[in-house]
Amino acid sequence: MDASASAAPAAAAGQGYDASPYLPSRGGLASLRRAAAGCQGCPLFLDATQTVFGAGPARARLMLVGEQPGDQEDVRGEPFVGPAGRLLRRALDEAGLGDEDAYLTNVVKHFKFTPAPRGKRRIHKAPNLREMTACRPWLIEELRLVDPEVLVVLGGTAGRALLGSSFRVGERRGVLLPMPALDGGETAPAAGQLLATVHPSAVLRADDREAAFSGLVADLSVAAAVLE
Ligand code: URA
Repeated sequence: MDASASAAPAAAAGQGYDASPYLPSRGGLASLRRAAAGCQGCPLFLDATQTVFGAGPARARLMLVGEQPGDQEDVRGEPFVGPAGRLLRRALDEAGLGDEDAYLTNVVKHFKFTPAPRGKRRIHKAPNLREMTACRPWLIEELRLVDPEVLVVLGGTAGRALLGSSFRVGERRGVLLPMPALDGGETAPAAGQLLATVHPSAVLRADDREAAFSGLVADLSVAAAVLE
């Protein structure tokens, strides 16, 4: 059967993208992860290698949310294992936060890309609002189950997904904010604080990489102080 014919009924029929029908009615993170592997709630699953679900301890005190998996994450099936992930892990370490104690995930669970004009390279393409909204039920469930004390939002896409479309990371970074009431508060975690900072990819692209890296570490240190 051709892949597009096997797409989720709603996504295939263009009736709106939505991951909700794929969510299990009960179970913990492991069953959520298994269900996400079969998600066809939007067309991004068609070209991606696999779902890249969150990873880390089920009861992590710290959770970090990025935009979407990159090329290497798509191949390996794990979040933050490419260049941006390596930089992030180094920054976490410098801030005194072990990455093994953190739960890492993304707003969108499939890699979105365009093929490079020549060769086999795949160029990252930012997810749009429909894709982010479709994928949101997974993130909300992850948040509910992990219930972190601090949620670190990495970059503008994750910030807009969790704090609204007017969010600008430069205006709100490095300060502790109350956890937003997701889904009208029905499924939101009861407690916890949120801290926004730049995406590690932005550090890799910065003209002054050292200064940008120090800024990321300084922001993460605010989270580390809460978790001391
Ligand atoms: N960038 C992200 O936002 N997430 C990843 O998992 C990798 C790169």
